[in-house]
Amino acid sequence: MTTDLLDAGERLGRAELAELQLQRLRATLRHAYDNVPFYRRSFDEAGARPEDCRSLADLARFPFTAKADLREQYPFGMFAVDRSRVRRIHASSGTTGRPTVVGYTERDLDTWADVVARSIRAAGGRPGHIVHVAYGYGLFTGGLGAHYGAERLGCTVVPASGGMTARQVQLIQDFRPEIIMVTPSYMLTLLDEFERQGVDPRSTSLKAGIFGAEPWTEAMRREIEERFAIDAVDIYGLSEVIGPGVAQECVETKDGLHIWEDHFYPEVVDPVTGEELPDGERGELVFTSLTKEAMPVVRYRTRDLTRLLPGTARAFRRMEKVTGRCDDMVILRGVNLFPTQIEEIVLRTPGLAPHFQLRLTREGRLDALTVRVEARADAGAGRREEAAREVAAAVKDGIGVSVGVEVVDPETLERSVGKIKRIVDLRAG
Ligand code: DLL
Repeated sequence: MTTDLLDAGERLGRAELAELQLQRLRATLRHAYDNVPFYRRSFDEAGARPEDCRSLADLARFPFTAKADLREQYPFGMFAVDRSRVRRIHASSGTTGRPTVVGYTERDLDTWADVVARSIRAAGGRPGHIVHVAYGYGLFTGGLGAHYGAERLGCTVVPASGGMTARQVQLIQDFRPEIIMVTPSYMLTLLDEFERQGVDPRSTSLKAGIFGAEPWTEAMRREIEERFAIDAVDIYGLSEVIGPGVAQECVETKDGLHIWEDHFYPEVVDPVTGEELPDGERGELVFTSLTKEAMPVVRYRTRDLTRLLPGTARAFRRMEKVTGRCDDMVILRGVNLFPTQIEEIVLRTPGLAPHFQLRLTREGRLDALTVRVEARADAGAGRREEAAREVAAAVKDGIGVSVGVEVVDPETLERSVGKIKRIVDLRAG
């Protein structure tokens, strides 16, 4: 991308960036300490005072913040400004217990629109493009986050939200968007619908898809790019940090996601010990916000696993595609397994569709896992049987554990309209 398209933050060199980060970090720690009783307590307990942060490395002296801490402060206890200055609330659905609530001041909403606009531009979006947003609108940050970012870039937004799949296909044909923003799993649901309506998915106006909110693999990228004839790039974010637009893959390199480090400071730590890991080593991603007003986060443990890499298309560091969450890791008879590993295997096995589910059951005292995966429509009985054997063998050889594989008829597994749930846990207790 020519540098004249980059905004001021993206043009910073490493030294200027580090200086800006330190200044913003010190202000954030002070703001959190002075205005959020939770941070005052946790910093005091750790014996860390905001003024002790004299270099970026000093951040490691401050305590982590976990999702449970946010839950305990439900609903507004993490806010660092008077509630009347909070312009918007979002919340995570929270499968268990209370949801996690986040808030934004007017300036936070502005920052968010800026980082999403920057993300869409990095994906190849330009002012004047039509952007079809099929992330869900509502308390989830996907829809509205994408929406205001696309408007900020100067695009025409189609706020489709999730669901009503047949209508989405119609809208894409009629409005002719260049860009789609959607979860990769819902993109597959759209693919089925295109085929059902007899429309060639490669014939649409779409040039690029900006996919995130759930882990997806290089194999899935190839599948989507091939089936739709588009560029597929990755967008990462989480509501606690801001929403979508924390990091974005650049379309010209497709080599992991540049973290918008002028707003979000990343660290990677050992998920068990919390020890800081050097760049290049895999571990749990941790973020400290650098510019947020309503809800600053300090060393927030994302539970997402990745590693930090030097910048390529930008000076900002990159994060490798997230391979999974600590929470999604299945420990099967002592072997760690992530749904993304199964995705890679399923997608390279002839005759199998990219739709699968992992069923966990208990047989006696042992856990068992069954991969339920759909056959492609043209796969006959023989191919299905072979595919099942191939997947089981690939899991045994590659991951080191025995699993059951069931190849089911096309269109029998539940389809995603937003974030997909890969694991169905049927173990009692
Ligand atoms: O999913 C924000 C978002 C919306 C990101 C749209 C990208 C696109 P939450 O609902 O708070 O926020 O969920 C955040 O989703 O901690 C990851 O586990 C996962 N996640 C988000 N983006 C990616 C990605 C939104 N690109 C949680 N790859 C995060 C893998 C992702 N996982």
